[in-house]
Amino acid sequence: MTQRMIEITSPYFIAEGQLSEPADWTEIFGSHRPLALEIGCGIGDFMVQLAARHPETNFLAIDIYNKGCLKTCRKIEAAGLDNVRVLRAEARFLLAHFIEREALCGVYINCPDPWPKKRHRQRRLVNREFLRTLLYYLQPGGELYFSTDFVDYAYDVADLLPAIEGYQNRLAKPFVLDLPGYPRSKYMRRFLDLGQPVHFIHYRKDEALRADESLLAEPLPGFRVRWSHAQNG
Ligand SMILES: C[S@@+](CC[C@H](N)C(=O)[O-])C[C@H]1O[C@@H](n2cnc3c(N)ncnc32)[C@H](O)[C@@H]1O
Repeated sequence: MTQRMIEITSPYFIAEGQLSEPADWTEIFGSHRPLALEIGCGIGDFMVQLAARHPETNFLAIDIYNKGCLKTCRKIEAAGLDNVRVLRAEARFLLAHFIEREALCGVYINCPDPWPKKRHRQRRLVNREFLRTLLYYLQPGGELYFSTDFVDYAYDVADLLPAIEGYQNRLAKPFVLDLPGYPRSKYMRRFLDLGQPVHFIHYRKDEALRADESLLAEPLPGFRVRWSHAQNG
């Protein structure tokens, strides 16, 4: 049975069809503030906390999960935040079509799908190509935060980042098990409540690095994925 997708009518929801390529985020937000992106916002717990703490920043929260986008919009409305917009989009598609070079002051990725089976790991979003691609979209000095409950994923990303020219570790260790002041997402809370660790990584793009197209040279798997409405509730 095909699941019907709930229509999201929130003023904070941006339908992909409304966007120009690249999108004019200043016009969409009605303000010229630095723009940050959360990839895989789930039901929005992390984003509402982060956006409330940083009214000086505009936040784009994206997920391919329609119900998650709807719940995120409801939380933003309840919190009365004017600095968040929600988009149902696949991360690589969003970046390739709607974000300009060095347009992002920060990227947040929390508990992304771990694809724990070895044979499925190539499906993970955060791999070397994706981390290089983010350097194209981050402004010099832009922040990258990654968290995961899955220890192998933490080790993989912690190993990849130092080998990519253009990133600097902001922590004393490859990853930490507590990042004071960093909001907790639904998945983080779920694992922490079970006594299981969450691993946090925080890097910054070098101030001196200017992004050029060579960072995009390796085609990303799923780069052009547009999610059909029937695929995901
Ligand atoms: C395990 S959930 C974590 C949700 C939330 N970040 C949290 O920590 O509670 C991963 C989320 O990422 C979304 N997601 C996975 N791959 C994505 C992609 N390529 N682009 C956008 N969203 C993605 C999924 O739909 C899902 O909602």
